[in-house]
Amino acid sequence: MKLLIMGPPGAGKGTQAEVLVKELGLTHISTGDMFRAAIKEGTEMGKKAKEYMDKGALVPDEVVVGMVKERLSKPDCADSFLLDGFPRTLDQAKALDATLKEMGIQLNGVINIAVPREKLMARLTGRRVCKGCGASYHVIFNQPQVEGRCNGCAGELYQRSDDNEEAVGNRLDVYEAQTQPLINYYIRQGLLLNINGDQEINKVLEEILARLKK
Ligand code: AP5
Ligand code: MG
Ligand code: ZN
Repeated sequence: MKLLIMGPPGAGKGTQAEVLVKELGLTHISTGDMFRAAIKEGTEMGKKAKEYMDKGALVPDEVVVGMVKERLSKPDCADSFLLDGFPRTLDQAKALDATLKEMGIQLNGVINIAVPREKLMARLTGRRVCKGCGASYHVIFNQPQVEGRCNGCAGELYQRSDDNEEAVGNRLDVYEAQTQPLINYYIRQGLLLNINGDQEINKVLEEILARLKK
C-alpha cells in the first residue's frame, strides 16, 4: 500500500505511523525525522534545515522535494510506503504527483488526522521523544512505563527543540496557511480518508485500520 499521513503538528502522525508501518509492513518516510537525522549527523543540509525548524518555519520546497525523491527511489519503497509530514505545500503535492507518475506509482489513500487547534499546544509542549528510535510519548497522555525511558528500546527521552510555545504557535499558523489547503486537493483526487484524531490513541488507530479495509 502507498499512503500519506497528514494533519496539523501534534495530530498524532508519528504516533499512528509507528504502529501502522508494523501492522501493514510499510516503509515509514518522515521528512521531519530525516531532517533531525541530518542535524544529528551535522551535514550541511541538516545545518540549513535546523534554522527553519527551530523557528517553526518550513524548510524550502526544493530541499524537501529533492530529499523525498531520492528516498522514494530506494528499493524498500517499491511496494509500499507511508509518507509522514510530506507534502506540506501545494507545490510539494504537485512535485510528488509528478514523481509518482514518473515511477508508475499510484497512491492508495491519504490519511488526514483532524484535531482542533486548541488541543495541539498541550500535546506538543508535553511531548517527549526517544533518542534511540524516535517514538513519541507524552508526560500526561502517553506516559512511558519507566520515566524518561522508551518502552521499546529503553532509549533516553528528550524534548524537541521546536516543541516550545513560540515555535509551536508558528508551526500551527504555517500549517493553517500552507498545508490545510491540501485537504481539498486530495478530496478532489478522491483519496482523502478523514479521521477523528481527537480521541484516545488506540481509537484513532482502530478508525484508520477500519477505513483502510474499505
Ligand atoms: P515534523 O517532525 O513532521 O513535525 P510536525 O508536522 O510539526 O508534526 P509533529 O511530529 O510535531 O506531530 P505528529 O503529528 O507526528 O504528532 P505525534 O504523533 O508526535 O516536522 C518538523 C519540522 O521539519 C517542520 O516544522 C519543518 O520545519 C520541517 N519539515 C518537515 N517536513 C517538511 C516538509 N514536507 N516541508 C517543509 N518543511 C518540513 O504526537 C504529538 C504528541 O501528542 C505526543 O506527545 C503524543 O504522545 C501525543 N498524542 C498523539 N496522539 C494522541 C491522542 N490521540 N491523544 C492524546 N495525545 C496524543
Ligand atoms: Mg511527527
Ligand atoms: Zn525508543
